[in-house]
Amino acid sequence: MLNKKIETALNTQINAEFYSSYLYLSMSAYLQDNSLIGFANWMRAQFEEEQFHALKMYDYLLERGGQIKLEQVDKPPHDWKDIIDVFEAVLKHEQEVTRSINDLMSLAIVERDHATVNFLQWFVDEQVEEEANVSDILAQLKLVGGQGSGLFMLDREASQRKFTPPAE
Ligand code: FEO
Repeated sequence: MLNKKIETALNTQINAEFYSSYLYLSMSAYLQDNSLIGFANWMRAQFEEEQFHALKMYDYLLERGGQIKLEQVDKPPHDWKDIIDVFEAVLKHEQEVTRSINDLMSLAIVERDHATVNFLQWFVDEQVEEEANVSDILAQLKLVGGQGSGLFMLDREASQRKFTPPAE
C-alpha cells in the first residue's frame, strides 16, 4: 500500500512533468515562428520526452495502487528574447525539476519506501543527462553568439533529434 505522502508527491510531480511538456511545446512554437525549424523539432522531441516522464510516473502510481489526481496545468510563457534566452530558460527549468526530483527521493528515503527509491533513481540519472545536454547546447549557442551561419549549423544538427522511448 502506497503511503499517502508519497502518493501526493508523485501526483504533484506528474503535474510538473506535464507542465514541462507544455513549456517545451510553447518554446517549439516560438522557435518555429522564428524560422528555427531544427530547434523547433528538438523542442518538440523534448515535449514528447516530458510526456513520457509524466506517464512513467502515472503508470508507477497506478501499479502501486495509488490514486491518480490530475491537476490543472499552468499556462507556460510564449515569448522569449532569442534562442539563447530560450535555452537559458530550459536550463533553469531543468535545474528546478532536478531539485523537485531530489526532494521526492529524500521523502521516499525518509518514508522507507524502497520501491519508490528504486523507481526514482531512473529520474535522478535522467536529470543529470538532461542538464548536461542542455548546458552543452547553451554553450554552443553562446559560442556562435546565437546567430549567423553558426546558428544555422546548430539548427541543422537539432533537426536530427527524435524522441525514442527508452527500452524498459
Ligand atoms: Fe522530466 Fe526534463 O525532466
